[in-house]
Amino acid sequence: MAGRGGFSSKFGFIAAAAGSAVGLGNIWQFPFKVSQGGGAAFVLMYVLFIFILCFPIMIAEIAIGRKTQKNPVGAFVDMGFKKWSVIGILGIVCGILILSFYNVVAGWAFGYFLEISQGNFGIGKEFSAFTADTTTVGIYSTMFMLATAFIVSQGVSSGIEKASKILMPTLLFLLIGLVIYSLTLDGAMRGVEYYLIPDFSKITFKVAYTALGQGFFSLSLGMGALITYGSYVGKNDNMVSSAVMIMIADMTISLLSGLMMFALIASQGLDLNSKGGAGLIFTVLPGVFQNFGSVLGIIVGAAFFLLLSFAALTSTVSLLEVPVAYLVDEYKINRKLAVWGMALLIFLVGIPSLYANGGSDFFTNFITYPGADASSSFMDFVGHVANDTFLPLGGLLISIFTAYVWKKHNFSAEIAQGNPTFVGSWQEKIIHFTISYVCPSILGTIFILTVLDRFFGVKLI
Ligand code: PHE
Repeated sequence: MAGRGGFSSKFGFIAAAAGSAVGLGNIWQFPFKVSQGGGAAFVLMYVLFIFILCFPIMIAEIAIGRKTQKNPVGAFVDMGFKKWSVIGILGIVCGILILSFYNVVAGWAFGYFLEISQGNFGIGKEFSAFTADTTTVGIYSTMFMLATAFIVSQGVSSGIEKASKILMPTLLFLLIGLVIYSLTLDGAMRGVEYYLIPDFSKITFKVAYTALGQGFFSLSLGMGALITYGSYVGKNDNMVSSAVMIMIADMTISLLSGLMMFALIASQGLDLNSKGGAGLIFTVLPGVFQNFGSVLGIIVGAAFFLLLSFAALTSTVSLLEVPVAYLVDEYKINRKLAVWGMALLIFLVGIPSLYANGGSDFFTNFITYPGADASSSFMDFVGHVANDTFLPLGGLLISIFTAYVWKKHNFSAEIAQGNPTFVGSWQEKIIHFTISYVCPSILGTIFILTVLDRFFGVKLI
């Protein structure tokens, strides 16, 4: 569409969508969720959910975006189903919530880059003091939001695409190197077993819905980010193969980063079932880099946190793009104004999260759910609402919309552009079956039970 910009090539779209998907969710959040969820049992649920539930929804999102070339609200209006644009509104709210805390964690990652560049490996032990220092973290987070807003204000094809193409492969190589190194350490196998051999008794309903939320979050699904990116995809691109590549890239990074972390945790003789949560990579990794010696340690450690910051940046950019595309398309607001206004709003919404890790007692011990044994911080609370509840809800609504409102044959016709053999293929049968029956039933059930379990302490299973 004129004036809106588009990705320059099919690879450009895949790189940008994978850039959105790969981020803190894979490297920071995945390992600590695994350790809270009992290890391999969580990993297994996560992989299963991605294949069965996330994949068809991913294709639906990209198809809706490409069909309408609109933002997640405008897309539904454009197709003639105005009421369903509530999916887009939900997505925008969700994007704002996610970016508000994500930006704080990105600030930590960037701060760690600066500390380790100066040889301060001791920062690993000072994680709590570091996050409680809201002035310093606030400055880093502000810088991060400024960088995000700057890139988004440049438009989608020039900024996002270029950065993703170079940095993502570099991150992958560094990660592979670190995985190989971790596996050679004494005692690493205890971690590998914990990570790969499931203990089925660990599968509780909470583990299941956390793994589901992690799947949606990690793939940037359920809030219209891929509707927005899909709106920039060329009509001749094969969406199914693109979605497969994005999914595989994202899963690979998560699984590798988990493997690395559990090998490292075990080799240091630490408890694998950490209750420590959000500090996991930040407390464990600096000591590992220190063992590389001062020069190599600084190089590898600084490169790691810098690349993590970039991975986060390609994700924050996609998060900000969602509300911005909405304002620009629907209200014809000037792009720069929309970008800077939104960035400011989201930064303000994120202030309680900035204070939620030791900065203020109120936000650190923000809420205790009925039936829970410990309090959750404001940042965790936002994650519970946005990642574990709203994203799967968005996915549920998208699946119902695609199968029963937009209708399967229209969905297929959109996919068939760029994939001429799709109609009548086994791919089509699987995608139709999952989107019409599997996703609505499983996501619907999990959604209701999650709300009851998490927020009301009512445990039906
Ligand atoms: N997928 C990103 C990550 O794993 C986070 C994200 C969620 C980005 C939702 C966009 C939309 O870090």
